[in-house]
Amino acid sequence: MAQRPVREYLLEKIGKVVKLEHPEIEKRGDYSFYTTDKDVMIKEDEVIEKVERVGGFVNIWLKNDVLVNQIDEVIRRGQQYGGSTGGSGKRVIIDYSAPNIAKPFGIGHLRSTIIGQALYNLYKFCGWDVVGDNHLGDWGTQFGKLIFMIKNTDTADYSIDNLEKLYVEFHKHAEWEDEGRKWFKKLEEGDAEAKEIWEKCVKVSMAEFDRIYELLGVKIDAAFGESFYEDMMIGVIEEAKRKGVMHESEGAGVIEIPGIKTPLMLLKSDGGTTYATRDLATLKFRREKWDPDMVIYEVGAEQGLHFEQVFAAANMLGYIKEGERLVHTKHGLYLDMDGKKFATRKGKTIKLEEVLEEAIERARKLGNTDQAQAVGIGAIKYFDLMHSVQSNIVFDWEKMMNLQGNSGPYLQYTHARIESVIRQGGKLMERYNLSNYRVNKEEERVVKMIYRFGEVVEESASRLAPNLLCGYLFELAQRFNTFYNKHSILTPTGAAEEERGRTREFRLAMTKATGIIIRNGLTLLGIEAPGRM
Ligand code: ARG
Repeated sequence: MAQRPVREYLLEKIGKVVKLEHPEIEKRGDYSFYTTDKDVMIKEDEVIEKVERVGGFVNIWLKNDVLVNQIDEVIRRGQQYGGSTGGSGKRVIIDYSAPNIAKPFGIGHLRSTIIGQALYNLYKFCGWDVVGDNHLGDWGTQFGKLIFMIKNTDTADYSIDNLEKLYVEFHKHAEWEDEGRKWFKKLEEGDAEAKEIWEKCVKVSMAEFDRIYELLGVKIDAAFGESFYEDMMIGVIEEAKRKGVMHESEGAGVIEIPGIKTPLMLLKSDGGTTYATRDLATLKFRREKWDPDMVIYEVGAEQGLHFEQVFAAANMLGYIKEGERLVHTKHGLYLDMDGKKFATRKGKTIKLEEVLEEAIERARKLGNTDQAQAVGIGAIKYFDLMHSVQSNIVFDWEKMMNLQGNSGPYLQYTHARIESVIRQGGKLMERYNLSNYRVNKEEERVVKMIYRFGEVVEESASRLAPNLLCGYLFELAQRFNTFYNKHSILTPTGAAEEERGRTREFRLAMTKATGIIIRNGLTLLGIEAPGRM
């Protein structure tokens, strides 16, 4: 029997909008909701074992067979288990990663890449049509400064290190500002020399970014960088003028936004465009190309004002369709152990690639030569995703790599242990029939997690909170390991051979289902789940 998600079944049966939750205290049932409406009644049936009303609370217990048969459903659906078609017909664009050309791929861009990819996978799994777009920072006045410096120092060294140095050097000389502006103007006007230098910078940076994406195992659908919008900028500015949205202020073109003090600048007094102009052009372009129902900007909290302004301006310009949602995730910072911004070590800027290499090295020391990359990178990703998106994260290698605690490696090892059990016992599992199997206490704690996976996936996507999925996977893995440490899967005890055989079948099936869920969950988080470690 193909099973409907239990939650959906219950909601339909209740027939009213209620907030159906899993009570923290387990003896209050599997689900519970609060209502003051005396007419809301729900009775025992083939799914519901027991209903109890305590004051306004209605507590619901599920039947043993519903929990146990879910295992069958997991095994039947395999890689698809937990997915849904809830989002079908809807499209979301995820704007993520977006490092800046001629600058290092920073730790903030790492967060954006990891979270953005997880959201991408989650929405896809929920049936949405998803487009990932890497809004590369490859345009702007900084390139004018850089071009000026490259010409001025007559350098052939286009390494990011050197470009960064030149950039810093430039800012020591206020008298060069005009030169920088002039060169950006030239670039915007299509000057061949400026363009050639800019192209070289892009090429060098992209090669470095690609190495990082390769290490992270991330591939983004599209990369319309900021430069792509250059030709559309004029259109946006004219439109803003025509619609009376933009006006002149001290030679610049600005949009005043009701409720926000700082006006949004579209056109600088020297005629140059801005980051915001490009974001508006991007909104218009995406509307025409993809017609999204939602756009998620996976960008740090420090750009809060920028996005507030851009969203409001886009609204004023009519770039947002009725019902469309624009969301800025506002991720937090990485901090070092002293609570300071994680950016330098012994006065040196921390290089992302070195952090990733160190993670792989540490994974190797955990005893993994074959899977060091999967474990090291998995550890970094999980550590990021287990925190709520908006919170700051204290970078802590010990926690990240902890085989006993809430970490990527812990989940990967649990998964590999499961796979190994299945390899040993798989052939014993041909004719399992799970109905009427009476679970013991440890088994019960596992099966009471299994049926919730789909709900968690759904909620992690809709609330843009991969940390919910992490928390769930950790809880499931812990409960499984408690079971595993107490009971034998392959050689259970029991009086009669028949009973032992039945127990073995059930436990193997439950083990297999747990493995599938952990693997599906890790995959959604962008983390590999090796079968052997
Ligand atoms: N490149 C920008 C930065 O590093 C992030 C771009 C985010 N996306 C956007 N559409 N503005 O700050």
